Amino acid sequence: MRHIAVLAREVCEYAPRHTKLYVDWTAGHGWHMQVMREAFSSQNEEFVTIGCDVDPLMLSKATSHLQEAWVTRFELLHSSYQHMADFLSQKWVSADYILLDLWINRDHILQADRWFSLKKDGPLDMRFSSEWPTAHAVIQSLHAEDMIDHLMQYGDFSPKRAEILAYYISKHKRNSLMKTTLWFKKILWQLKVWTQELARIFQVLRIVTNHELDQLEVFLSTFDRCVSPWGRCSIISYHSGEDRLVKNAFKKLSRTWRTIITDQPIVPTSNEVYRNKASRSAKMRVIQKN
Ligand SMILES: C[S@@+](CC[C@H](N)C(=O)[O-])C[C@H]1O[C@@H](n2cnc3c(N)ncnc32)[C@H](O)[C@@H]1O
Repeated sequence: MRHIAVLAREVCEYAPRHTKLYVDWTAGHGWHMQVMREAFSSQNEEFVTIGCDVDPLMLSKATSHLQEAWVTRFELLHSSYQHMADFLSQKWVSADYILLDLWINRDHILQADRWFSLKKDGPLDMRFSSEWPTAHAVIQSLHAEDMIDHLMQYGDFSPKRAEILAYYISKHKRNSLMKTTLWFKKILWQLKVWTQELARIFQVLRIVTNHELDQLEVFLSTFDRCVSPWGRCSIISYHSGEDRLVKNAFKKLSRTWRTIITDQPIVPTSNEVYRNKASRSAKMRVIQKN
């Protein structure tokens, strides 16, 4: 089954009507790029879209998908969103609409050789970019105390449960079998860690391995300088830690002639959640530069 763009209708609805340059810094397969292009190109012939992704494989998938969908006037780049502001300012361009759609692509789950599907065996890798250390290397370098903090912060574990899990993982981290997802799971099964907790532990490892919240913080403190006057930025997050960062950053910006467009985050309709279960925790917040 293919990846389905989350909140696609709302992403278009909240775009400024005058949008000429749309920047999607989590391009994935380019589904949001396609729907934005379809919604805007008829009203605006100058409409251009730039898509970026930190995972080169996503960019090759996006290229084929956008070509097959007859999308024109697009550019795809390999970069992390933490570098967006530097990149756009070097090009002397500002965007009318910027989108970040956080989390992972369905492909990441399906590729057992790179990712950690709970169902498939594969290396403990979990990286969006091969330039970073793998999840296995991250586990080796983490102190139990840091692991406790991460489990509480990114996995919503209670302090007591986080402590038990962190010391258990630390005790077994030198076990050479722990290099694969299957063995990682098997070791945790001994502690009676079943599917739901496993999913949360895997989420924590993915967030830490990819420095997801650190990168988001850099983006949130720099994106504003790339937005054109009356331009907007929409961010779709899937985790309470991400949403909190976005909410607080937008609040801070709203003290300086920026308007928060969504007092409450936009969430998928029950119909969308029914069609696409992966959308169920999505929250979209939008801010405008005045
Ligand atoms: C939910 S998917 C985006 C799906 C896309 N909106 C679509 O409709 O096809 C999130 C994407 O963000 C990418 N990503 C993750 N971390 C990133 C980062 N730091 N910089 C840029 N892209 C990143 C992932 O590789 C993934 O393709």
